[in-house]
Amino acid sequence: SQDGYDLWLQYYPIEEATLRENYSTQIQGLITYGSGATLDAAVSELEKAYAGFFDASIPTAISIKENSLVLGTRDNLPAYVLPSLEGEFTKINSEGYIIKKIRIGNTPATVITAETEAGLLYGTFRFIKEMQLRNAIDKISITDSPKIQIRVLNHWDNLDRTVERGYAGFSIWDWHHLPELIKPEYIDYARANASIGINGTVLTNVNASSVVLTSAYIEKVKALADVFRSYGIKVYLTARFSSPMESGDLETADPFDPEVKQWWKDKADEIYAEIPDFGGFLVKANSEGQPGPNNYGRSHVDGANMLAEAVAPHNGIVMWRAFVYSEHDPDDRAKQAYSEFVPFDGQFHDNVLVQVKNGPIDFQPREPFHPMFGAMPDTPLMMEFQITQEYLGFSSHLVYLPKMFEEVLDEDTYVQGEGSTVAKVIDGTLSNKKLTGIAGVANIGTAKNWTGHPFGQANWYGFGRLAWDPYIDSEEIAEDWLKMTFSKDKDFVDEVSEMMLDSREAVVNYMTPLGLHHIMDTGHHYGPGPWVGNLDRPEWNPVYYHRADSLGVGFDRTTTGSNALAQYAEPLREKYNSIETTPEQYLLWFHHVPWDYEMKNGKTLWHNMAAKYQQGVEEVEDMVKTWNEMEEYVDEERFATTQMLLQIQLKEAKWWRDAVLLYFKQFSEMELPEFVPTPE
Ligand code: GCU
Repeated sequence: SQDGYDLWLQYYPIEEATLRENYSTQIQGLITYGSGATLDAAVSELEKAYAGFFDASIPTAISIKENSLVLGTRDNLPAYVLPSLEGEFTKINSEGYIIKKIRIGNTPATVITAETEAGLLYGTFRFIKEMQLRNAIDKISITDSPKIQIRVLNHWDNLDRTVERGYAGFSIWDWHHLPELIKPEYIDYARANASIGINGTVLTNVNASSVVLTSAYIEKVKALADVFRSYGIKVYLTARFSSPMESGDLETADPFDPEVKQWWKDKADEIYAEIPDFGGFLVKANSEGQPGPNNYGRSHVDGANMLAEAVAPHNGIVMWRAFVYSEHDPDDRAKQAYSEFVPFDGQFHDNVLVQVKNGPIDFQPREPFHPMFGAMPDTPLMMEFQITQEYLGFSSHLVYLPKMFEEVLDEDTYVQGEGSTVAKVIDGTLSNKKLTGIAGVANIGTAKNWTGHPFGQANWYGFGRLAWDPYIDSEEIAEDWLKMTFSKDKDFVDEVSEMMLDSREAVVNYMTPLGLHHIMDTGHHYGPGPWVGNLDRPEWNPVYYHRADSLGVGFDRTTTGSNALAQYAEPLREKYNSIETTPEQYLLWFHHVPWDYEMKNGKTLWHNMAAKYQQGVEEVEDMVKTWNEMEEYVDEERFATTQMLLQIQLKEAKWWRDAVLLYFKQFSEMELPEFVPTPE
C-alpha cells in the first residue's frame, strides 16, 4: 500500500496471465495435517496471499489429489507421503523447512513440511515469497534452516511509550490498553517478523524499568506473548538489576544474598506461570549508570548466573550485555568490555549468552569488529546490531545497513587461523556452541510505515535475513526486498539495489571516513560535533575520539598508544600496528596520523580526508539522481517521501563535510583542495 504499512508482505494480484494460470494450476487444493495456533497462522497467511494474488479464496481439499498443497509437520503427515521426502529431513534442523513438489504414486503435489510448526510457518512464508518474486513453483524444491537459534529484536521501548533512539514515532506497545486491547498492529508485527524468521522480541528498553516486572505488567506482557506465540515468537523482558528493591521490598539486590536469589526465582515462577514459553531476560548492568552486581562488589558472572538460575528450571535464558565502559578508566573506552569480560570466559552458566555490540565503541557508521568475538571460546557470544540509525542519520537518511552487517560478519578474527570469521563465532561453528543468538535494536514505531523512512524497512528485513543466515549476500537481500516492497522491474531493481548498497559507504564518507568515529554531536548523536569537549565524562566527548592537534588526527591504539590492538589476534595485531599496513578504512581508528602523511594514492592525509567528505556528498547526489528516475515504478506517496528525505540527506551530507573540514582545518593549517566547494 502507498503508506507502506504492508511492508514486504504485499500480495497484489498477479497480472502476468501465464504465471497466474500456472500458479493456480499448481495450487488445486490446500490440505493440512495437524492442528495448532501456528499451523492456523500459516494457513491464514496462505489464504491472505492467495486472495491477494488471485482475488479468490484458496481452494481446499480433504484428501491429497492432483496438485494439492499439503501442509503438515513430519509427525502429522500421512505415512504414505513420507517416502517421497526420503533424505530431506536430514537437511533441516528443528526450525527448518522443506518445500517440495513430490509424487505420491502418480499424483503430483506440493508439500510444505518441517519438524515443528514454527518450521512450517517459515516454509509457508517462503512459499509465498517465491510467488511474490514470481519464481516458478511447478518443480519447487527448497530446504532451508536458520543457522542461529535466538533471533531477536531488542526494543528500546519505555513503558511511557517513548522509544530510546527511536525515530519512527512512539512505541507500538500500548501498555495503557493492554491486556484487553489487542491491536491489529501486533499481529502484523508478528507476521512481518515470522516472515523473516525472527523468533523473539525483547519488549522493553535495556535502560530498564522494574515496573514491567510487577504483576499488573506481567499480565500485559502475557497478552502480547499470547499473540506472538502463534507466530513462533517468544517474548523476553529487560531485567533491571535493582528490581528486588524497587518492584520488591528488599533492601539489597546483591546477587549473593539468599533473599535476592529467592526473589528472582519467585519472579521467574510468577512470569512462567502466565507465560510458559517466556524467553528470559536481557540485562544491561553496570553500564551508563545502570545498577548491577558491581554495586555489591560482585562480578558480571555473579549477576548473570544468579538470574540464569532463576530461569533455568523453565528453560529460560539470560542475555547479559557486554556494553560496559566506565568513567574511572580514562585510558581507552574501546578496551573496556574485553578487559572486563574475557577473564570470565567459561564461567557463565549454560543458559547465559553474552551480548556484544558489533564494534568496540558504539554503533558507528564503521567500526572494526569487536575484539571479544573469538576471544571467549567457552562462552556463547551473541551479536548485537543496531537497526535503528542512532549514529547514522536517524530515519532521515537512507542507509542500507545489511551491507554493514555483512561486513562485520565476514571479518576474520583469525583466532583459530584464517577463516575464523565473526559469523562463525556467532553461529557457534567456530567453537562448537550449543546456544547461539543475534539481536537487532529495532527501528520500529507507530509511524504508519513502521520505520519512518520507507527504506528503514529494508534494515529490519535485512537484519532478519542475516539472523537466519549470516552468510547470505546483502545484495540478494536488497533485491528481494525491493521486489516485494516496490517493483519487480529489472531496471528498477538494478538501479535501486545499487543505490542501497552504495549508501553505506556514502554515509561513512560524509560522516566518519578513514576510521574517524564518534564525532557526532553529543547526546542526540545527530549531525557533526567534533568540536565538543566539555562533557563531564571524557569518553562522551568527540575530541576524545579524534584527538586532532597540530601534528595530526586519530586515536593511537597501537603499542605506542592505548594498545587496544593487543586484544586482536595475529596477524591483525601486527598488521594494524603499522600505519602502512592498516586498511585505510580503519586508519584513524588505530593511528594518530600526521596531516601531511602521504597515503597510498600519493596525496596527503588532509587531501584524502577532504576527498572522502566530498565523495560522500557526491554519492548522495547520485542517490538523488537515481531515485528521481524511479518515479514510474513507485507509488506517488512513497516516491515523494523518499525524494524529499533524500534532499534532507544531501543537505546534511554537505553540513557534515563543511563542518568537519572547517573544524579540522584549524589543526591541519592546510588549504582545502579545490574540489571542495567553499563552505556557505
Ligand atoms: C548507546 C545509546 C544509549 C543506549 C546504549 C546502550 O550509548 O546512546 O541510548 O542506552 O548505547 O546500548 O546501552
